[in-house]
Amino acid sequence: MSGNHALIVAAGQGERSGLAIPKQFAPVKGQPMVRRSATSFLEHPDIEKLWIVIGSGQEQLLEHALAGLSGYEIVIGGPTRRDSVRNGLSAIAASGAKNILIHDAARPFLSHAMIDKLISALSHSVAAIPVLPTIDTTINLANGYAGETIDRDSLWRVQTPQAFDFDSLVQAHALWGSGNDASDDAQIVKAAGHQVAVVEGDEALKKYTMATDFAQTTDNMMKQTRTGIGFDVHRFSTGEELWLGGIKIDHEKGLAGHSDADVLLHALTDALLGAAGAGDIGDHFPPSDPRWRGAASDKFVSFASSIINQKGGHIHNVDMTVICEVPKIKPHRAAIRHNIAEMLNISVDQVNIKATTTERLGFTGREEGIAAQAIATISMR
Ligand code: CTP
Ligand code: MG
Repeated sequence: MSGNHALIVAAGQGERSGLAIPKQFAPVKGQPMVRRSATSFLEHPDIEKLWIVIGSGQEQLLEHALAGLSGYEIVIGGPTRRDSVRNGLSAIAASGAKNILIHDAARPFLSHAMIDKLISALSHSVAAIPVLPTIDTTINLANGYAGETIDRDSLWRVQTPQAFDFDSLVQAHALWGSGNDASDDAQIVKAAGHQVAVVEGDEALKKYTMATDFAQTTDNMMKQTRTGIGFDVHRFSTGEELWLGGIKIDHEKGLAGHSDADVLLHALTDALLGAAGAGDIGDHFPPSDPRWRGAASDKFVSFASSIINQKGGHIHNVDMTVICEVPKIKPHRAAIRHNIAEMLNISVDQVNIKATTTERLGFTGREEGIAAQAIATISMR
């Protein structure tokens, strides 16, 4: 038995985050915050037991956040962080803990390396905390900007977990005036006269506090994978050029239409617009509008892809099928693929072109025209 226990304080309200639920239960990169550090402790071989302090009435939120995990004990916290820690220590007192690591649920990304480092620091110290230097120029704005900078070398940022000899921490908390909050436990142990060792902190352990810390998270969470489908047909006509995928193909007939009649790019445009939830090509480029007479269809594709970009999205891949008896598509496939990749500003392996005949059946079989299908997969908020 290692005698190393871990205590996660997760009893706050997360007021500053402005979230609808206490922040420790809100998802960060797809997982409830408290679940991440809880998992890290539960899976660490040198942590004998995990205790989690939550607010009264937060039991269901925790149960939901930790669904499927087991091996932890729940303690009910108090009005301040310090109260919550103290309630946790009282609950642990009878369990024979030798060392205790106290951690903010609000710091989700806790590595095993950090836990190792703190435990080993306790072999020569009563307390150990992770700290990080202050990198930015630092100023005092208490009375407005007076122009003086503060010596950064002496300013360090303190993180959690903070590791302590269990009995020393309990005694220090008893000495600390009741009704006095403390933003961490190291100051309580220091006030009781103990030395506090420092180990190198980890930027990944950043505390999620303000609404902006969660804005990105929520954005990521809300990004959805979407697909769109497109289909188009143009008829063959003598005296027209044949454009497919933005490439001019030598053929006895071309395709008739208002623009350059690039059937493949039209299907692609509709697939992209469809994925973006932005209607169809006719909504944006009405055939009645003389501006689009003879227009090169890559304009339509670029327009559709710019709608996706404007909505904060990006294209995962596009796949297309050209349906015709003639001309043979295979000799042009590579050129079309490269051209479309360039148009969409994605790599060639995100673009696929296929071709098929209809066994001489139907209008394509009779060589009356060309049909094209396209599908696009995108991520978008
Ligand atoms: N904490 C706690 N009990 C309290 C207050 C805070 O267990 N009465 C915990 C929080 O859940 C958090 C950690 O202490 O994991 C650090 O506190 P903080 O980041 O300030 O969280 P909140 O108090 O929840 O946020 P806010 O101050 O914005 O309300
Ligand atoms: Mg707080």
